[in-house]
Amino acid sequence: MNELMTDNGNPRHIAIIMDGNGRWAEKRLFPRILGHRAGVKTVKKIVEYCVKEEIAALSLFAFSSENWRRPKKEVEMLMELFFGTLQTQIDKLDKNNVKLRVIGDKSAFSKKLQDRILQAEQQTEKNTGLTLVVAANYGGHWDITQAFQKIAEKISKGELQLEDITESLISQYVTTAELPEPDLFIRTGGEQRISNFLLWQLAYTEFYFTETLWPDFDKEVFSKAIESFKSRQRRFGRTGEQVVNLQKSKKL
Ligand code: IPE
Ligand code: IPE
Ligand code: MG
Repeated sequence: MNELMTDNGNPRHIAIIMDGNGRWAEKRLFPRILGHRAGVKTVKKIVEYCVKEEIAALSLFAFSSENWRRPKKEVEMLMELFFGTLQTQIDKLDKNNVKLRVIGDKSAFSKKLQDRILQAEQQTEKNTGLTLVVAANYGGHWDITQAFQKIAEKISKGELQLEDITESLISQYVTTAELPEPDLFIRTGGEQRISNFLLWQLAYTEFYFTETLWPDFDKEVFSKAIESFKSRQRRFGRTGEQVVNLQKSKKL
């Protein structure tokens, strides 16, 4: 994981709940889908910014396992928007050395969307720049469940023993296993909840909430979140004094 470290104090992995598209549209008396479209524009800008700032990983919550509860029309339009965005953006992402990964239960998507996702992941698989994780039909409970299912399967085949189940083993089976855990979590739109995002992975993440609606989120608000992150002392259970001493001896 060390190769993913940045030495300028920037977070290596940022996770964002992109919330507020609907309210952004409703405020303007637009249909909600226009809010989602405006949200895609913000995604493009924020991805570009992360590429420029050499952030190692960006995880974006695009569609939760609970979002199927929305009106059918909105769900359909979100699926179309996801498909269309993958189609139009993948070459640019590839050119920018971005590695795309989609996490979530993809089996619920149409075959056409599943194929598009697979193609996009394969096209960018070898890229070494920003890892862009898009969480779609994703839930933190689902992620932990699928990790347990995989581990149980290995145990039943005799490839793993019960004693092998440790925290670090479980970390190897959640969907973001190859990435460092998020350093910074941002939620736009004013709500202060996790909404079943990366539950296992957020154990020691720094949280930042902003009232800004996702379509209005920009470099300035993003920089504020990163500055807030940089000003915090991460203690991981230690005392503040211990952290200062460890930093002096460069062990942290
Ligand atoms: C987030 O924006 C995008 C998705 C959940 C797909 P919302 O659509 O939740 O926006 P609000 O919360 O209704 O404003
Ligand atoms: C969380 O937003 C999911 C995404 C941003 C994709 P929601 O708007 O669905 O969350 P709740 O329902 O308000 O918790
Ligand atoms: Mg919302």
